[in-house]
Amino acid sequence: TGTVPSLRPVAHFTARDTWLNDPNGLLFHDGTYHLFFQNNPQGSTWGEISWGHATSTDLVTWQEQEVAIWATDDEMAFSGSAVVDSQNTSGLAGPGETALVAVYTSAARPRAGAPGIQSQSLAYSVDAGATWTRYAGNPVLDIGSTEFRDPKVFWFGAETGADGGPGEGHWVMVAVEAVDRRAVLYTSPDLLSWTYASAFGPAHATGGVWECPDLFPLVVQETGETRWVLVVSLNPGGIAGGSGSQYFVGDFDGTTFVAERLSTSTEPADHDWLDYGRDYYAAVSFNHVPDGRRLMVGWASNWEYANDTPTAPWRSAMSLVREVDLVLGADGRHRVRQHPVLPPAEVLPGVFELSVPCGAGDRTALVLTGDDGGSDRLVLTVDGDERSITCDRTQSGAVDFHPAFPSVDWAPLPVGADDVVDVVVVVDATVVEVYVGGGLVTLTEQVFPSSPFTRLDREVLSTAG
Ligand code: FRU
Repeated sequence: TGTVPSLRPVAHFTARDTWLNDPNGLLFHDGTYHLFFQNNPQGSTWGEISWGHATSTDLVTWQEQEVAIWATDDEMAFSGSAVVDSQNTSGLAGPGETALVAVYTSAARPRAGAPGIQSQSLAYSVDAGATWTRYAGNPVLDIGSTEFRDPKVFWFGAETGADGGPGEGHWVMVAVEAVDRRAVLYTSPDLLSWTYASAFGPAHATGGVWECPDLFPLVVQETGETRWVLVVSLNPGGIAGGSGSQYFVGDFDGTTFVAERLSTSTEPADHDWLDYGRDYYAAVSFNHVPDGRRLMVGWASNWEYANDTPTAPWRSAMSLVREVDLVLGADGRHRVRQHPVLPPAEVLPGVFELSVPCGAGDRTALVLTGDDGGSDRLVLTVDGDERSITCDRTQSGAVDFHPAFPSVDWAPLPVGADDVVDVVVVVDATVVEVYVGGGLVTLTEQVFPSSPFTRLDREVLSTAG
């Protein structure tokens, strides 16, 4: 199979000519959004993992920057997060400076007789993210494990006190003990020394290792109450096969997360998923976004075939940035709702907003095709009897580069979508994102058509009346 070099997304970040996987260190600082990412600066497959860097002021157009944290002879820089240490709790900033502090996993290169320990380390920038220095005291947290990674750090408490000085609070780190399917929490006053606080899991989907956790508060739209969301990616064992991202809703008191709904079911459909497609993994949120907005980005690929997707010289894209909130369903369950942050229509023409009947007897196909009159297509089917929306990419273009790629994926229709459901389809070259029922259900899929999908046609397969 050849590659499709002309297909490059516009609003989904891609590295210029290299590999990327997980989003890392997402933060807002001084008018700029920073997106770091797992990057192989030397190639277009996974390896020599470093932190690449991109910036944006609108969350839609991204500018790739210099590599922030390079792999060294001793370690690769695995996933993690970054914070603005505005009160200089770490002491890493000099007079008049502000430190951005990245917390990443030092993945030690295995040596003869020595396993590859994963520990948590710091790098910091005092020039607003332009250049990064490894902290001399690394690692800051080492439990002697080869499966301890992906620290997400945030400030718990008020960022500033009433007197303008440091607010009451502490740093929290949530990381994973990956093979034990456990999210582990630590606290710190200064980012340098960490104290074990609690653990969560195994729970719900455990068919693979747990990776890339996140933990953040959201306000429930209906009640105004605050709930905490713990996001856990897992690989494999995702709802669509391969890697996927699940979440838990509950409470967090600064040290311990308690889920409000724990099901003993092993049926993936009984768990809560951030996305039902094949290509939404390692999703985490930005730190320090103003006005309480919670913005997330995922990696729009799947470990099953990520190294084989037919693009060159770049490989893999991020998802759109998604604003998330929480809603309380008629069934008493809190669910995450997601809204894509979109560019003006002239930048990204492929945004389709539809209202689709989904009562008993209703079946509608939404068919995406290109301008070239070719047979490549992506077919979404809304089925009122099955209460489902499926996504068939078996004829979406190049599909035979990996046996796991061609697939028909399933998502439930959201609770409350009884007779009609709204569907938003965003098409951007190699990534299609589908938002169903106001974003209560999403499906993200890669496609590699011979010419970009630009049309969406509706075919009524059956109706109730
Ligand atoms: C998730 C992951 C992380 C790890 C990183 C390495 O996709 O496996 O657990 O830190 O990728 O690139």
